[in-house]
Amino acid sequence: MKILNEKDIAYAAELLKQDELVAIPTETVYGLGANSFSEKAVKKVFEVKGRASDNPLIIHVLGREELGKYCREIPEMAYRVAERFWPGPVTMVLKKKSVIPDFVSAGLDTVAIRCPVTRITRQLMAAVPFPICAPSANLSGRPSTTRVAHVLEDLEGKILAVLDGGDCTVGLESTIIDLSTETPVLLRPGGVTLEELRELLGEILVDKALTQPLGEHETPKAPGMKYRHYAPKAPVCVVRGKTDATAAYIAERVDRESGVLCFEEYKNLFSADAQVRTMGSRKDAAQQANCLFDRLRSFDQTEVRKIYAQCPLDDGIGHAVVNRLTKAAGFHIIDV
Ligand code: TXA
Ligand code: MG
Repeated sequence: MKILNEKDIAYAAELLKQDELVAIPTETVYGLGANSFSEKAVKKVFEVKGRASDNPLIIHVLGREELGKYCREIPEMAYRVAERFWPGPVTMVLKKKSVIPDFVSAGLDTVAIRCPVTRITRQLMAAVPFPICAPSANLSGRPSTTRVAHVLEDLEGKILAVLDGGDCTVGLESTIIDLSTETPVLLRPGGVTLEELRELLGEILVDKALTQPLGEHETPKAPGMKYRHYAPKAPVCVVRGKTDATAAYIAERVDRESGVLCFEEYKNLFSADAQVRTMGSRKDAAQQANCLFDRLRSFDQTEVRKIYAQCPLDDGIGHAVVNRLTKAAGFHIIDV
């Protein structure tokens, strides 16, 4: 895989035009970019990731002027969200126009649309005559990629190029809000918080799939939220409660075969032969978001058989961190 920079935009654009895939940095995570209008390219996206075919893709646009090109019956709320948060880490689900192919939206009547911040990616978007669709640039089921090194880890030999935008600043995928229904519904928490969206829009429902495992016959509104996700190889156990108590609980249980994901403040509490990774201060949710996927990935380079994680505070962007971490754990949570 070639690692490209700003000098190589024309080459990256050429690859996309030829139905090749290019990994692209965004402020949230790296994406696996393709021409949204090319069935051949979009098929490759699904193949390369090993992604289920019923899981639709997000399309990326340069600004709110483009909403009308791809969406219909756009509610006023959508313009408010775009005005306030775009470019930025929030994706809107809106009714799609027929220009958006079914192979992008997995046959749904809606499309997920987002406007990323990262400059090099915006340069590439401006250099091609189609919207770039991009799921997170990881193999399905694995933690998303937030560093070029992660993209190489998962996709080396499978795609031709990655644009190097450095480390992603947010570190978790975008917030997804469904505005195609009467009352907006939060489908995935992310960098733009539920509190901020409620302040702007008023009532917002929260999809049930975010807080509990679904029953066998239930489906979340974001099809992707039903799959095992973000998971390192070893099983993860999230320990929830006051941070002193969760640290003590974990410290009593760790051994040579354990991984520990803890807050900076507690890193010296654990046995020296455990694999200890920190995710920033317990007070710094933005830092936790930024390094969560990197730390989860790092356990795959070890022989640990079980990973204990301290649970962050569940508000603001912490809500998204807790969501990803509990999904990585398959909702295996211990309250102490
Ligand atoms: O931050 C992000 O959103 C990153 C960057 C690369 O833009 N992309 C990303 O894509 O996270 P992906 O494919 O990993 O996650 C997209 C989620 C999936 O859960 C999918 O099911 C959901 O969005 N989704 C896509 N289109 C949808 C639609 N029309 N209705 C409901 N959910 C949708
Ligand atoms: Mg993903």
